[in-house]
Amino acid sequence: MFDVEKIRGEFPILSREVYGKPLVYLDSGATAQKPLSVIDTVDCLHRDLNANIHRGVHLLSEEATEQYEAARARIASFIGAAEKEEIVFTAGATASLNTVAYAWGGAFVKAGDNIVVSEMEHHSNIVPWQMLAERQGAEIRVLPFDDAGALRMDLLPGLIDARTRIVAVTQASNTLGTRPDLRPVVEAAHAAGAIVVVDGCQGVVHGGVDVREMDCDFYAFSGHKLYGPTGIGVLYGKRDLLEAMPPFMGGGDMVDTVTFAKTTYAPVPLKFEAGTANFVGAIGLGEAVKFMQRFDPAEIEAHEEALLCRATERLTAVEGLRIYGTAPGKCAIVSFNVEGVHPYDMGMILDKLGIAVRTGQHCAEPVMDHYATTGMCRASFALYNTLSEADALADGVERAVRMLRG
Ligand code: ALA
Repeated sequence: MFDVEKIRGEFPILSREVYGKPLVYLDSGATAQKPLSVIDTVDCLHRDLNANIHRGVHLLSEEATEQYEAARARIASFIGAAEKEEIVFTAGATASLNTVAYAWGGAFVKAGDNIVVSEMEHHSNIVPWQMLAERQGAEIRVLPFDDAGALRMDLLPGLIDARTRIVAVTQASNTLGTRPDLRPVVEAAHAAGAIVVVDGCQGVVHGGVDVREMDCDFYAFSGHKLYGPTGIGVLYGKRDLLEAMPPFMGGGDMVDTVTFAKTTYAPVPLKFEAGTANFVGAIGLGEAVKFMQRFDPAEIEAHEEALLCRATERLTAVEGLRIYGTAPGKCAIVSFNVEGVHPYDMGMILDKLGIAVRTGQHCAEPVMDHYATTGMCRASFALYNTLSEADALADGVERAVRMLRG
């Protein structure tokens, strides 16, 4: 049984106070809080097992390597990868997406090619493609969304053609909460010979993923949004693509032999893990995945759906409040503004009430432009949030509106 109060007990930070009030943490889309199992794992690694991986015959190094590779295997199975070699550890989703843009893009995108990017992407799934397009002389094409926040799939055929090399799209928008149906995107991209790169930062948390069923070519996510440590992320890639792609960064651990005449590279995934890996982060992320695997995904989904419904219902009742992103099937992310109220003022008053939301552009300026706004407030829910916290948000918003409108 999914018992939210019991789960909250595993997250020490949730029992702290802010300005003498209980913390209501509704900013998990930016970074999620960590359960004790992850905190303890990271602590124990530093206390008892700190040794560089893949580099020593001594016991500590061997144990650390074993745990690092076990985390890789656990993550591979969690996201439905065919094998653990398809999991590359990176510093985060941004590093994952940049790796694809530099390494795959540098090798396979040529002048005159095009890259299709959805309008609802986070900057980390826009800017690397723009930089790639500039380097290679390629074109960026934008797949728009409608005012409800649904991708305009009807426009796909006019955007994807024989010169499309990459289609970059999110599994779940960090601002609108939209979870687009990626099947038509993948089908159209593959039919044109393009690869599909999916930003799974929010999607892997809200609903999870089976990368083989999705049939994406690359999939990126960050550990810290998935209840894991900061500074660790994952790049999933189909093995043949990873093998065909040159390395991104050179250094230790990513090589087979090094001579001044010629250097050869390690097999995947090590080819993409130059330098001392963040083995503490990777093992901590493995622990976060173990935490997630304790639950029935359907129960998490039902709980988050209930939070979304309550927050939506209560906020919609606030006069002058607009929710951005109302597409069916969206995840538990609610971005909003109240007429005549600046989102920063709203965010600051909520903060004084102990309620943490994100304010501003949410690293998604094109989404702001779509709605002709300079910023939004965003409440992003996690499995540890409660219905009374959704109510606290709505009560706080009502109070802020009263204060700001006089
Ligand atoms: N990408 C993070 C967010 O959406 C920081 O808030």
